Amino acid sequence: MTRVGGLAASVAPPRTVIARVESNRPLVPGIFEAVLALPSEWGPARPGQFVQLECPPPELFGLRRPFSIAGCRAVVGGVEVRIVYGAVGMRTHGLAQALPGVALRLTGPLGRPFDAMPERRAVLLGGGRGLAPVLMLAEHLGRNAHGAAILLHGARTASQLIPIPDPPCEVRPATDDGSAGFHGTLVDLLQSMSDAGELLEGRDALYACGPNRMLAALAAWSAERDLPCQVSLETHFGCGLGMCAGCAVPVKTTAGAEVSAFERFVFLCREGPVMDAQRIDWAGVHE
Ligand SMILES: Cc1cc2nc3c(=O)[nH]c(=O)nc-3n(C[C@H](O)[C@H](O)[C@H](O)COP(=O)(O)OP(=O)(O)OC[C@H]3O[C@@H](n4cnc5c(N)ncnc54)[C@H](O)[C@@H]3O)c2cc1C
Ligand code: FES
Repeated sequence: MTRVGGLAASVAPPRTVIARVESNRPLVPGIFEAVLALPSEWGPARPGQFVQLECPPPELFGLRRPFSIAGCRAVVGGVEVRIVYGAVGMRTHGLAQALPGVALRLTGPLGRPFDAMPERRAVLLGGGRGLAPVLMLAEHLGRNAHGAAILLHGARTASQLIPIPDPPCEVRPATDDGSAGFHGTLVDLLQSMSDAGELLEGRDALYACGPNRMLAALAAWSAERDLPCQVSLETHFGCGLGMCAGCAVPVKTTAGAEVSAFERFVFLCREGPVMDAQRIDWAGVHE
């Protein structure tokens, strides 16, 4: 994860700026896409990084909310950042009501991005709204000597699959109920690709974002194979800046070794959100 030369090698310093909502629309029931206009000095952001975004209604000491960056590009007069979010609670429901022109404070880009491995073919997995950061990664990767990236997108049912209008690589959908694409979870789809000889240990690398339960299953599956696996993990963030300890997640330690609490946990907002899947102690991660 700390190799020099990958996408993690250079990250822009975070800045707090005013983001103006350009558009904000539902993609599928309960999941929205917001395009935000930022000043030109912001970023650039790397796939896997996130922003801390103020969500309406305004609140004196309201905490901002973390969102993965789904896209970031320079446009005339500034930078355009895209997020894909689920309306799950008070702040994200407030955000879903934000009309074009609304100004929101935003800090970023933050966190450790995916560290692409150019010597391996990329297999990207996006579960539900976890599609956001891996789609941005797919757009950055293109094709390497080991072939084009392949993107697996899973949802509970067909109506929850997020449309990808101009995909940067092959996309394979999967649904838990079999109503579209492969019938099963994304880990089931990986297993079937492996059985069919489409996934090669020693050649491919996995990059994933989705519900923690999916990431835990993927970590266990990839641990049994020679498949490096990076995951973009979510937990409850307070500050997003390494100051509140709200985002601590447990990591594996050497069996029998005496370790302090500081060695048993990492602050996900600083050391993540992208982590090596095998470093996490999944038994201690909430669903
Ligand atoms: C690094 C990072 C990147 C994220 N990227 C995205 C993204 O791209 N799109 C997106 O929709 N969401 C993303 N999230 C989650 C998002 O920040 C939360 O859904 C949001 O903060 C909820 O705020 P709320 O006020 O609407 O809900 P709250 O009222 O705070 O909570 C509503 C419900 O959601 C649960 N919840 C809140 N936060 C989380 C969380 N992080 N993980 C699991 N359950 C949670 C609460 O337990 C509660 O049940 C990300 C989180 C992190 C840490
Ligand atoms: S969210 Fe505050 S320390 Fe990570």
